[in-house]
Amino acid sequence: MSIISKDISKAVAILNAEELVAIPTETVYGLAGNIFSKKAINSIFATKQRPLFNPLIVHIPSVEYLDKIVEYIPKKAQLLADAFWPGPITLVLKKKAVIPDLITAGKDTVAVRIPNHPTTLELLKSLDFPLAAPSANPFNRISPTTAQHVEDYFKDQIQMVLDGGACKSGIESTIIGFEDEEPIIYRLGSTPIEAIENVVGKVEIKNNRESAPKAPGMLARHYAPKTKTVLTDNILETLYYYKNKRVGLITFKSEIENTNIDVQIALSKAGDLTESASNLYDVLHQLDGMQLDVIIAEKFPDFGLGKSINDRLERATK
Ligand code: TXA
Ligand code: MG
Repeated sequence: MSIISKDISKAVAILNAEELVAIPTETVYGLAGNIFSKKAINSIFATKQRPLFNPLIVHIPSVEYLDKIVEYIPKKAQLLADAFWPGPITLVLKKKAVIPDLITAGKDTVAVRIPNHPTTLELLKSLDFPLAAPSANPFNRISPTTAQHVEDYFKDQIQMVLDGGACKSGIESTIIGFEDEEPIIYRLGSTPIEAIENVVGKVEIKNNRESAPKAPGMLARHYAPKTKTVLTDNILETLYYYKNKRVGLITFKSEIENTNIDVQIALSKAGDLTESASNLYDVLHQLDGMQLDVIIAEKFPDFGLGKSINDRLERATK
């Protein structure tokens, strides 16, 4: 029997019982539990097989709630919250003592956001506690952007996926921390850097492996299909290299005529980066189920959401 359901009151009951529910957000589905329940948080880590050193994002219902869980809000953090929440920006801020160490992997900061999804906003407003929710995929695997993706991963391990349709943005939130009051991007994501800079001026990106101590989730290999994946800016040369293999090709907008391709998918025939981002993980899920030898992905333009798409594709190749 399917565990997918639209019943918000059922989700409330399960969460109140310290169990987990997968929830829709505008970015990806999350595997959610009560932040104050040790039992729920432990089962998030166990279900995902996620290492305990990798902290979780806390999802809150309103900007006002922020004061209850963080010590201090830098001026530029407030500007970003006002500009983008509810929405795909996560702020890493100094935590208050009420936030359990298990959530933050012992750090003195907590990652927090208000998701922009009507179902989950309604759910959050019906609960007496915020929800910790990492992406609802086993550690290192492709993030889920539909309720079905989550059911395929966790059918036997959780009671319910709250159905909110396909995720509109399709890539995780952009994570921003603060060093000496200045915003630093720890993870590229669904809010493009240009939009952030319009609000707070120039921001530094520390999205790489060197920033691992800051955002332990940013491991080199992440968001990865089981199928070998290659990212290239020279499609024809790469196709030639894999000429005797079963090849799946992901392009930005163009269709390539070449007999070495078994299946190809353009993420946006119209050449739209927003549409490409929202299709990316679903296409990776599809190709990963086709017994291909290799998935070849075309490099995206290196600006706006193209930067975030390249980041995820890059990590899928490791
Ligand atoms: O869009 C999203 O952000 C989704 C949806 C469900 O909200 N969530 C998500 O969670 O992507 P997750 O757990 O897959 O990624 C959380 C990232 C990890 O890379 C983690 O290291 C980082 O957030 N993080 C969490 N707390 C942190 C902290 N205190 N300092 C630095 N990085 C932190
Ligand atoms: Mg994740």
